Amino acid sequence: MTIATSQLFFLVFTAILFSSAHFSAQSSNEDEEDVKKSHFPDGFLFGTSTSSYQVEGAFLEDGKGASNWDVFCHVPGNIMNNENGDVADDHYHRYLEDLKIVQSLGVNAYRFSISWARILPRGRFGEINPRGIMFYNEIIDNLLLRGIQPFVTIHHHDIPQELEDRYGGWLNPLIQKDFVYFAEICFEKFGDRVKFWATINEPGLFVNRAYIRGTYPPGHCSKPFGNCSSGNSDIEPLIAMHNMLLSHSMAVHLYRKQYQMKHGGFIGIVVNALMYEPLTDEELDRQAVNRALAFNLYWILDPLVFGDYPPEMRHILGSELPRFSPRERKLIEGSLDFIGINHYSTLYAKDCTHSACTDGEDRPIQGFVNTTGYRDGVAIGGLTGLPRFFVVPEGMEKIIDYVKKRYNNKPMFVTENGFTPPEQQSEQVQDLLEDIDRIKFHKAYLAALARAIRNGADVRGYFIWSLMDNFEWVHGYKKRFGLYYVDRQTLNRTPKRSARWFTSFLTNNSHSNKDEFWRDSFRNKDMLKRSGDKKADI
Ligand code: NOJ
Repeated sequence: MTIATSQLFFLVFTAILFSSAHFSAQSSNEDEEDVKKSHFPDGFLFGTSTSSYQVEGAFLEDGKGASNWDVFCHVPGNIMNNENGDVADDHYHRYLEDLKIVQSLGVNAYRFSISWARILPRGRFGEINPRGIMFYNEIIDNLLLRGIQPFVTIHHHDIPQELEDRYGGWLNPLIQKDFVYFAEICFEKFGDRVKFWATINEPGLFVNRAYIRGTYPPGHCSKPFGNCSSGNSDIEPLIAMHNMLLSHSMAVHLYRKQYQMKHGGFIGIVVNALMYEPLTDEELDRQAVNRALAFNLYWILDPLVFGDYPPEMRHILGSELPRFSPRERKLIEGSLDFIGINHYSTLYAKDCTHSACTDGEDRPIQGFVNTTGYRDGVAIGGLTGLPRFFVVPEGMEKIIDYVKKRYNNKPMFVTENGFTPPEQQSEQVQDLLEDIDRIKFHKAYLAALARAIRNGADVRGYFIWSLMDNFEWVHGYKKRFGLYYVDRQTLNRTPKRSARWFTSFLTNNSHSNKDEFWRDSFRNKDMLKRSGDKKADI
């Protein structure tokens, strides 16, 4: 298939995908854990996710500039075992093999991110790097030739270090100009073939780590959150987020004005969406759940849907919370075609307005909420390899339902969901390859997602994090989220049992609802509706 034919195919495919509602009704007495592909709408995207810094390596090759993560990882003590992404999975050199693997899984989509410093080694203060453009063109063309939709994240935590050095990165409004410049290059160079754009990955988690806790670059924090050489944990996250949201909406505005009609794509953002349960039955803890959602999730989505920060935050933070000017408000309101949901875990929420909390949870920036995975020493769900990730499949159904209700059932994609085994489990390669727990995890979360869809949630895709084991930020390479095992010495990729399970999940099912599919695809759900989004009562 030529690129032109594949483009045509995907235009039709995309049009169908985005004009159809959900139609794969299931009988309610069906065993829910026995989840099947046919429980999801036709045209649903099933894929895997990666991000540039976590897999690419080739950190200074072919004209790439240094990124904030390149610099941060090279400071001893910042990352577990002083590991870094200099080589990572060497995806930069092995991308062809990796794309074959992606295809062999049987997925119809693949989510990856673009390294800003590979395209613009010095941000807008230098030239475009043609080798960087070539690399992503290769990936996109290869995916399309294999019948796989590229789902592209423009920014996934890594910025050119030059922007950090020149003006302080996300803390300075100048970054808005840089971000839009970068986004425009992506739309211009790749937009004819990319139909799904996510502007920024997990801004909430990023500002928390980078400006409250100081564990991500630029490593800013203040007491009691941490002991950093610079930063202000009470204020900086608010400023950085404000710049991220404005950057997002400026890029969306540009896309809609200049590219969307021509390219027929869709643009959204990806949020880190944890679910919360009250620690006790007390009303105060129930209110704490709402504040946890407000300070972690509505913080990002309320402005992008309704045009302002959530009232729950304004109430607590007052004038510390930045304001959008009338012009900015117009720009930001409704600046989403879809919401990308990264969902991994559920935590308990405990009120800190009436009871004592430590470690900063008793401060306005944390919404006076303490979140924890334990009640009376008992974990909320199965343990994983990360301290705040617990296996609570029903949290998937609940968070999707919350987002559906608050944001008027805006189209959603589950852009990440994944599992890394607890440390005490064996580190023998054979055991890592026999990853039954990962299979159970995905089956249970997919079943919960299917229930949410059955209840009317407009979810259009599900991406497993991750295609292969990779650099898990401050945890280095010890945390293994991959469907493929990566040997750290040889960098050879080996399918885990979960890779085979995913393939059989994707290929052994046939749809029995073709007629409904064609009928419903003509139901006109107006994806691009710009206004009229009303905050639904929840
Ligand atoms: C979310 C992030 O987007 C990704 O970079 C990370 O590796 C996974 N969560 C797992 O922690």
